[in-house]
Amino acid sequence: MSIPTRNRPGTPPAPRLLPRATTGVDVVRVANLADRQAALAIRRRVFADEQDVPDLSVSDADDARSVIVLGSLVGPRGERWPVSTGRLTPPVLVSDPGLIAWVATVPEARGRGVGAAVMRFLLAAADRSGTREVALAAQYPAEDFYERLGFIQAGPIYDVRGIPHRRMIRFRRA
Ligand SMILES: CC(C)(COP(=O)(O)OP(=O)(O)OC[C@H]1O[C@@H](n2cnc3c(N)ncnc32)[C@H](O)[C@@H]1OP(=O)(O)O)[C@@H](O)C(=O)NCCC(=O)NCCS
Repeated sequence: MSIPTRNRPGTPPAPRLLPRATTGVDVVRVANLADRQAALAIRRRVFADEQDVPDLSVSDADDARSVIVLGSLVGPRGERWPVSTGRLTPPVLVSDPGLIAWVATVPEARGRGVGAAVMRFLLAAADRSGTREVALAAQYPAEDFYERLGFIQAGPIYDVRGIPHRRMIRFRRA
């Protein structure tokens, strides 16, 4: 099946049309250039294009030492459509929390469980590494999404470039 795309110089096209029938969800740790570019294209689609954050750089210095994951919808013949991403940055000091950021699912794939699967992958990685606490800056509309994954509110609402956020934390499961 061919997927209509929008091209941007230097980045792979992001999927616009998804198949009606998908058989599951696949989440992998980004380990090659194609997956990395797909993850950055999803960041760009959601945070730069959809949310219109001005002058957004979709990569930062923490990428190199972080676990970046790519979530895909899987078709009946094993085809994969990358639609979601997220990142876990391990703490520098043992007493610090791990940080989750850049969590996004492209608009046309939301509500199909891929974002939650990406988060579960990141949280399992944090738990395995022994990180006691994981923190994130939740966009206010996504608070329910994070609460269902075990996060609790940990501060007041604050503004980041016009978008309300709140710090949320989650402690390692015993
Ligand atoms: C938040 C986001 C990543 C969720 O991705 P997704 O792939 O749609 O999530 P899922 O399909 O796995 O949703 C899991 C559950 O959370 C719910 N949910 C998802 N987004 C939600 C939101 N913004 N508010 C409330 N509930 C939400 C879904 O309805 C679903 O519930 P269900 O299991 O009862 O059906 C996605 O909506 C997104 O990219 N939003 C814009 C960017 C953003 O806010 N990123 C977070 C930055 S902190």
